[in-house]
Amino acid sequence: MVALASLLSIVVFVVSPYIVQGTTIRALNPDNARLLRFSATHTEWISNTALEYLLEQRHQYLPGSRETVGFVHTSSVNVDGLRNANKALLDGISDEAIRALAGREGFKVGYIDITETYDGTTNHDEAKTNEASRAALPYSAVDPTAHPDYKALAAMVSAQELRNIVGNLSTTFPTRYYRSTNARAPSLWIQSYMSKFTNVSATLFENTFNQPNVISTLTPPGTSNTTPIILLGGHLDSTSQSPSTKAPGADDDASGTAVALHVLSILAKSGWAYTKSKYPIVTHAYAGEEGGLLGSAALAKSYKSAGRSIRGMLNLEMVGWQPETTGSSTITVLTDPNADMSNYMLNVIKAYVPTASVRSTKCGYGCSDHYSFSDAGYPVVCIASYGPNDANLNPNYHRTSDTLDKLNFDRMADFARATLAWIVQVAS
Ligand SMILES: *[C@@H]1O[C@H](CO)[C@@H](O)[C@H](O)[C@H]1NC(C)=O
Ligand SMILES: *[C@@H]1O[C@H](CO)[C@@H](O)[C@H](O)[C@H]1NC(C)=O
Ligand SMILES: [Zn+2]
Repeated sequence: MVALASLLSIVVFVVSPYIVQGTTIRALNPDNARLLRFSATHTEWISNTALEYLLEQRHQYLPGSRETVGFVHTSSVNVDGLRNANKALLDGISDEAIRALAGREGFKVGYIDITETYDGTTNHDEAKTNEASRAALPYSAVDPTAHPDYKALAAMVSAQELRNIVGNLSTTFPTRYYRSTNARAPSLWIQSYMSKFTNVSATLFENTFNQPNVISTLTPPGTSNTTPIILLGGHLDSTSQSPSTKAPGADDDASGTAVALHVLSILAKSGWAYTKSKYPIVTHAYAGEEGGLLGSAALAKSYKSAGRSIRGMLNLEMVGWQPETTGSSTITVLTDPNADMSNYMLNVIKAYVPTASVRSTKCGYGCSDHYSFSDAGYPVVCIASYGPNDANLNPNYHRTSDTLDKLNFDRMADFARATLAWIVQVAS
């Protein structure tokens, strides 16, 4: 339904290509091209062949070892060189798109693929989105003494269970790439993991590719489908320089998914979600994030079209790489796109996980799934070990070397504590 409706609008749309301020739209067919949003004011069609070529180039800008990180962070894409080598293929594609797709302009590729979720607006009004989310921040003051029930939840956090989940996701499936032959298998594993807990049912949300999102909802008594929901999640897919055959994605993002699943199990097993929460708590595992936030864009669109109100969305992205820290862990809160949400999360972590070394940095447009929900007008926040331009960003990310043995699960456990603290504050 979602795909059909948006496909129709695209078909109508591409009949007359035009340029609006800051936005280039070229006449390409949705069958052989993708509509990508690079920023609030920049949306552009890229042919599939150009897209594949540019994404391949990206790997030469990725680090192979920790020592090369400094180099990678200062390198930039030679746009003219790429253009000269591939005149016909890159003709009409903007410099910004080439840099974002081929290079290392931030944490991730930094775009949202809106081919299937396109709503007819090329310019996304971020100011309006931020205003809406500010208005929607009715959280109580951060105060651990008002939430003594947090302690029992935090005591249930298990580094070993986080290791089990990351171990299963990163070794049972040679790859979780969203376009690989077995792209569906990790979604089914997550569905069965979620379904182990009493009262928890997990459903699949199908995408246009063969990897569904997975959703589980903890519904307290007395709530209805007009009650605002609280979202937490991470992306289940992975990628690498050989994505169809090998992409363990232990840190990116089995780690974030593991924290979300573990927190879900604690909220269910303790009964907290049914006895203390005033809001349904929904856990998502997002598919196709590496394809341009595909699964989360489809989900966000479906909540928006259903008129569903979301009290807050927390995204967990690459939370396992912790080679060194001055505290019990390093937790980085991304400052954008919703400054209020980020500040609130910073305060939550400082108050509830005081041993962690907490910091913040900018994410940049479209770095992970919270941007899909922000684009749909919802209040979002994302936590990670490190941000886009940090020298300590995991050098194995998007590599076949992103494996379990390189992660620190004791430090990762602090992310589960921070997530539980945020839930206790915003849900009760
Ligand atoms: C998968 O999880 C189970 C516990 O649920 C654990 O016993 C097993 O060791 C895990 N597998 C891997 C490869 O980590
Ligand atoms: C299951 O959910 C119901 C209502 O939603 C709740 O009353 C009950 O306590 C839950 N059971 C468990 C074991 O948490
Ligand atoms: Zn990634």
